Amino acid sequence: MTDEVTRSGDAIETYSLEDRHFPPPDDFKERSLVAGTFLYDEADRDFEGFWARQAADLLDWREDWHTICEWDRPFAKWFVGGKLNVSENCLDRHVANGDGDKVAYHWEGEPGDTRTITYADLLDEVCRFANVLKDLGVERGDRVNIYLPMIPELPVAMLACARLGAAHSVVFGGFSADSLADRINDAEAKVLVTADGGHRRGAAVGLKAAADVAVADTPSIEHVVVVRRTGQDVHMVEGRDLWWHDLVPAASSECPAEPMDAEQLLYLLYTSGTTARPKGIMHTSGGYLTQVAFTHRYVFDLHPETDVYWCAADIGWVTGHSYIVYGPLANGATSVMYEGTPDHPGKDRFWDIIERYRVTILYTAPTAIRTFMKWGTQEPERHDLSSLRLLGSVGEPINPEAWMWYHEHIGGGRCPIVDTWWQTETGAIMISPLPGATTTKPGSATFPLPGIAAEVVDDAGKPVSSGGGYLTLTRPWPAMLRGIYGDPERYTETYWSRFEGRYFAGDGCRVDDEGYYWLLGRVDDVMNVSGHRVSTIEVESALVDHTKVAEAAVVGAKDETTGQGIVAFVTLKAGNEAGDELGQELRRHVSTKIGPTARPKTVIFTDDLPKTRSGKIMRRLLRDVAEGRDLGDTTTLADPAVVEEIRRRATAAPTED
Ligand code: WTA
Repeated sequence: MTDEVTRSGDAIETYSLEDRHFPPPDDFKERSLVAGTFLYDEADRDFEGFWARQAADLLDWREDWHTICEWDRPFAKWFVGGKLNVSENCLDRHVANGDGDKVAYHWEGEPGDTRTITYADLLDEVCRFANVLKDLGVERGDRVNIYLPMIPELPVAMLACARLGAAHSVVFGGFSADSLADRINDAEAKVLVTADGGHRRGAAVGLKAAADVAVADTPSIEHVVVVRRTGQDVHMVEGRDLWWHDLVPAASSECPAEPMDAEQLLYLLYTSGTTARPKGIMHTSGGYLTQVAFTHRYVFDLHPETDVYWCAADIGWVTGHSYIVYGPLANGATSVMYEGTPDHPGKDRFWDIIERYRVTILYTAPTAIRTFMKWGTQEPERHDLSSLRLLGSVGEPINPEAWMWYHEHIGGGRCPIVDTWWQTETGAIMISPLPGATTTKPGSATFPLPGIAAEVVDDAGKPVSSGGGYLTLTRPWPAMLRGIYGDPERYTETYWSRFEGRYFAGDGCRVDDEGYYWLLGRVDDVMNVSGHRVSTIEVESALVDHTKVAEAAVVGAKDETTGQGIVAFVTLKAGNEAGDELGQELRRHVSTKIGPTARPKTVIFTDDLPKTRSGKIMRRLLRDVAEGRDLGDTTTLADPAVVEEIRRRATAAPTED
């Protein structure tokens, strides 16, 4: 790797689409934290030592570790013997350093109400809520479920758990009551924190009502703490349900942070895998916080004194955990946090927010970018976006067209773009440019970060130096998942069995002849809809759960805006009529069972499904049908005629917008 990772010519316009190179602009480079290769060089020499230096530089420890990394494949421990408190690192130390008045969050509600929350405010509220949790019997090692909209109480609740050494399990507000109940039961949480509702696209969307349905089936929950956000009517169960505004102001703001083991469970976050049952991904404290602080600082070239950083994700997903809550707060950053959707009240809400808060760093998803493209350049053009200096992308492969649009119309041609590849399981960014050091190419996440070892391998697990294959990670990393809650075997089986000695990410990837990584999307039974992971099998079991459905096969088909759209092939039990009405009913059913993100875009009724002789549904074939491609070899089909029939039906199937 040279100084700029790769060289490029000066006239970017002359490159063909795949081959455009964008070196860091000179003025960006001059002010950036990393303009050369020294971090890569240091990590190459001794990756454990490199991470130990980051842990020592970026965090405050109460007790030193005796072992940097204990690796008993596939189980890792980092900074063994070390003690720290995550909430102290995110709050107390900044206040103690004289930054109590610094803004932690410029929060903006969808209706336009705002709150300015300083580090001192946040510490005060976190201590109070930690005391509330203690009073409710929450102790170190317990689990607390959180089901909240994007309001300040969400990071407060998370940090209060961290302060006590209780693990939080945040469930995205868009998930259904059933999904919430499953997650609570798997975690055996004692307390649920929720709200009456939240604001979304101009409406007050209820949460407490769904929480009530869930809690009817969750014997472990002793109390439900409810934040009043929308003011809508809710039913409070005497003795079980308590209002946040009754408890928190009355609680003491004294709650000393106790040192926790580096490997103390910090949180569970459930994610879809290749089976119907979501997996509780486990993240612990010291290694996780080290890597999220490191990546947040260097990938976003954070200058905490001057930057206003905005990650436009929802905290219900890992992106929000790592890059709205833990990374920015550990680094003492000033962030924007926004409750609602980008199209309320107008399609320029994001640009309006950027202009008003003078946002300097924006981190969002390709689906959002493609949506903005559809809405047209007149929306960003109405606003002054000159404060922006860096753009980020996450959650799905970004196509070069969207990358270029983002670069030109949002970044004004001057902002580097960091396309960051990572997963719920990796906890933090793994493959990404360093914006002052790396020459980017539109659509490529470029290279593994310093301290990270990735390799693309072929079917047999042999490394591919140039060309396509499967993305694997070959060494432990500090923020790696420590397992699947309650199921160590599933952890080994899911991530460490496909290729000997390697973590398999589930993603396809191509390495070009300059060594750049081009992520190609999932190669397993996981779909990526608007950057949200949805399991095909989970949707299939929700469909089969409907009384009229005999069998279902679900595939993700390419979609211009959402990356993939869910297409369901359904066979009905005898005596039932296929039709539009039932199609709608099935979509609703999936939405109720899992949540709106999992609702199929298209339902295709068919009399049979294409299967191999061993009875396995041929998903690839169905994906081809769904995407309107020509079919491949059908000789392994039990009944080739089925495919013709499916294809005919697919052409006629109604699609939901
Ligand atoms: C995909 C989100 C291409 C990938 C942080 C991965 C990406 C899955 C990128 C994880 C990217 C995420 N380029 N694909 N920059 N970032 N992905 O767990 O398929 O919600 O496996 O974590 O999103 O999704 P998850």
